[in-house]
Amino acid sequence: MTTPEIELVAPGTYEENGVPHEQLAWLREHDPVHRHHGDPERGNPPFWAVTRHEDVVHVSRHPEVFSSYERLALFDEPADEHLALQRMMMLNQDPPEHSRKRGIVNRGFTPRAIGVLERHIREICRDLVAEALRRDGGGAGDGDGAADFVRDLAAPLPLYVICELLGAPPEDREKIFNWSNTLIGADDPEFQRSPDEGTRAATQLYAYAAALAAERRERPRDDIVTRLLQPGPDGEVLTGDEFELFVMLLSVAGNETTRNAASGGMLALFEHPGQWERLRADPALVRTAADEIVRWVTPVNLFRRTAVRDTVLRGRRIAEGDKVVVFYASANRDASVFDDPFAFDVGRDPNPHLGFGGGGPHFCLGAHLARLELCVLFETLLDAMPNIELSGNVRRLRSSFINGVKEMPVRLRPVSR
Ligand code: HEM
Repeated sequence: MTTPEIELVAPGTYEENGVPHEQLAWLREHDPVHRHHGDPERGNPPFWAVTRHEDVVHVSRHPEVFSSYERLALFDEPADEHLALQRMMMLNQDPPEHSRKRGIVNRGFTPRAIGVLERHIREICRDLVAEALRRDGGGAGDGDGAADFVRDLAAPLPLYVICELLGAPPEDREKIFNWSNTLIGADDPEFQRSPDEGTRAATQLYAYAAALAAERRERPRDDIVTRLLQPGPDGEVLTGDEFELFVMLLSVAGNETTRNAASGGMLALFEHPGQWERLRADPALVRTAADEIVRWVTPVNLFRRTAVRDTVLRGRRIAEGDKVVVFYASANRDASVFDDPFAFDVGRDPNPHLGFGGGGPHFCLGAHLARLELCVLFETLLDAMPNIELSGNVRRLRSSFINGVKEMPVRLRPVSR
């Protein structure tokens, strides 16, 4: 068989199944560090496609060779006026600048700090589920098609949790929700909005974060925002700009990812009813299920790095300046690491998936939080409506970068008590 083509898809179209698993499986076996011609006409230079688990880990853990400083997404926008701003965000920085910021923000994301949020996450899930039941013909389960898993549950949850984390009052949730959605393009299913709208939303969110910081400096609280703005044991603090940019990063990094994990996870459970039955019989399995969902869905398919020196990976010569793309979606189906990788198994343990990254300095800051959100959401669903059913066509985002479900109509049948 000749090398299969991995088609590159810029966001903006919809079709079934965006992840080319067959092609990735072939590459893992026959050409694990593959030279892809890119798609220069649409702003995508040639790159090395890294598809094996071991190699994705290697690239992620060697930022001194594989830098995050150049843009991380697959498609470069021709005139990206936000590039300077993006480079100031820690996701796009390398050590030592990255390490300083990461050291500060880690304070807000310790298991203890996240544990404090659990009670609020439970309340948010309970309210969202109750609201979704009301939308569905008053919870009668008469299938009027009004409930949509993405719109009513998966989308608001991560945003509301970020608001909670920032200590934003509930009346501000809607505007933060709208700014964040506009920023990531999720407000517009056809991606038709103008770049100006994105810029406006970014400016508003930035100003909101600045006001929040000013308020906490004036009246410190026992909360995450205060912890980031006050000197820690090392004397380090986030400066004004750094804090504002961090809030923007959170609303991008913690938003669509968790949304797509929740909706993709629900879809996987619809497609594997035996696994839903297992969860119903033993809800304690939600813990392993949350990680299996992140492995199975892999909401972020890939990230790109740039080689800052000549190097060799699995015998291939990578030159300084070459683009190197790590395919988390491929690593998460690598049979040398996972037994039966194409089986969705809510009890999978151990599960060394790379859905949150390959374990280097950029390993997902929100991994504990995302796991907690998924656990609580599915616990709440199992408790309130174990008879949830898919009731219409699923619309998926077709993108090389994000594995996303945009619409998923469901019929909710609450437990009668
Ligand atoms: C980084 C995935 C949820 C905040 C990342 C990375 C991935 C990822 C793949 C890059 C790792 C690397 O380059 O090595 C996910 C997935 C999530 C999720 C799949 C949900 C299932 C969240 C949440 C937050 C968050 C809830 C915060 C509220 C971040 C931040 C970074 C990051 C700030 C950058 C870290 C750095 O540069 O040091 N995430 N993420 N993520 N994530 Fe997440």
